[in-house]
Amino acid sequence: MNLTLWILTVGWIFVLLWVPFIIYTNRKTHPKALFVLFFAEMWERFSYYGMRALLVLYMTKVLFVDLAQSAAEIKSYAIYGSYTAMVYLLPVLGGLVADKYLGFRRTIIWGGFLMVLGHFTLGIQGIGDLEGNMPLFFGALALIIVGNGFFKPNVSSFLGKFYETDDPRKDGAFSIFYMGVNIGSFLSMLTCGYVGQNINWHYGFGLAGIGMLIGLTVFWIFSRGFGEKGLQPKEVQEGKVKLFGIKPDLPVIVLSLAAIPICALMLNLNEVMSTILLVISLLIVGYLLYHALTAKDKATGQRLLVVIVLFFFHAVFWALFEQAGGSITLFTEKNVDRFIMGTELPASIFQSFNPLFIILLAPLFSYMWLRLNKAGKEPSTPMKFVLGLAQLALGFAIIVIGAKYFANSEGLVSVAFIAFMYLFHTMGELSLSPVGLSMVTKLSPGKVVGFVMGAWFLSMSIGNKMAGWIGTLTASESIDEGAHPMETLGIYANTYLIWGVSVVAGAALILFLLIPLLRKWMHGIH
Ligand code: PHE
Repeated sequence: MNLTLWILTVGWIFVLLWVPFIIYTNRKTHPKALFVLFFAEMWERFSYYGMRALLVLYMTKVLFVDLAQSAAEIKSYAIYGSYTAMVYLLPVLGGLVADKYLGFRRTIIWGGFLMVLGHFTLGIQGIGDLEGNMPLFFGALALIIVGNGFFKPNVSSFLGKFYETDDPRKDGAFSIFYMGVNIGSFLSMLTCGYVGQNINWHYGFGLAGIGMLIGLTVFWIFSRGFGEKGLQPKEVQEGKVKLFGIKPDLPVIVLSLAAIPICALMLNLNEVMSTILLVISLLIVGYLLYHALTAKDKATGQRLLVVIVLFFFHAVFWALFEQAGGSITLFTEKNVDRFIMGTELPASIFQSFNPLFIILLAPLFSYMWLRLNKAGKEPSTPMKFVLGLAQLALGFAIIVIGAKYFANSEGLVSVAFIAFMYLFHTMGELSLSPVGLSMVTKLSPGKVVGFVMGAWFLSMSIGNKMAGWIGTLTASESIDEGAHPMETLGIYANTYLIWGVSVVAGAALILFLLIPLLRKWMHGIH
């Protein structure tokens, strides 16, 4: 059996043992809903990341194969950036729809349904004459974008509803949930990556669709046992809330279907997309700033200022972190020595280092924060952001060193470098991402939590758009058909040195200097 299949088998066995273990050890502490949502989100992430593992590779190798290599890469990164940016932009609306009109259950089911359609469309897109069919390709991505906007934010918010606000089990529940997220991601990057690259692209995409179908079915069947929770808001049921004069269900469905061609179009309008994001960001940050500066209570206002400052650093983090699905995957394809024990491993499966490290390290991190907390030494939220950025920069430094000093004569670096890079990036993610989410809920004034959370996703969205742009820098014009890996190696190394190391480390330093001020503004909340 070849090594890829071995890795795949071991990965699945590990998960098949790990998941029952988690459920068994937590079954008495948590409501059943946690496990239903765990499985639904696990399979949804399976589909999302299975597809992301293949996306940029598929675009550069199949979809835009008629273009010169550099042009194909530039185009692919622009689409990747716009796609992931919209994936994190639409949850703002998805959350609103659930709160006001459809309730969690209907919104999640509708979103899941659209995502299933999207993934299967990508699968079908490979059959016969449909290979490389652009309208189908962009339509499929748009279906996933809109579907994800309804699904992703609401599964997490829904989970919160099964616990009282100050329930001590809540943090634990979210850690278990995050484990589900990463188990799904891990399995899919391995499985869809392998199937897509080694067997057939479209089987890989289709497999992602099957994952999503399982997630949707799990949710559909088991959410019936949730009683009153997640039903449509009372006022809607009683007919007091209407949209265009009728029950809101149909208008929401029609409007979301109408959004699909718009998103599909936007995927191709790179500049317009950037401008829209910029305008939305200015409006929202401006609004938050206004809120912060005019707050009656000085402490409330200053706490919001902290969120605004961290908004920018959060975006920088994701702009570099999300190179994983973009330029790092093409770097792995071209410049990593993927021959191991006689097998050439497909580049896409290397992305699975991130979720694997999360699964292994998340318990360690929770334990560490708890211990430090008891010793009175737990770093403050801004300090954890500094640590997150610093580890991200360190990860890129490892790749740069590998590329500059340890590449072989063919321009290939050892797998060890990419593994260590992912290790540091993952530790960075664990230091910053969960902390950021919980900070938003603690530092925002009660009435605007939902809005600030939306803004927080927006900063992620901007980060993802920037990620696409940074990716284009690695697709230098000088690199065209048949370029020697030695040439591409230098371009990756330089881009990562400037953006991954210098800019990120610079951001970490600036934030570090701001810590005393931010701590003062936080007024006792850490
Ligand atoms: N890997 C995480 C996930 O897919 C990344 C993420 C963190 C996304 C926080 C949204 C919010 O869930």
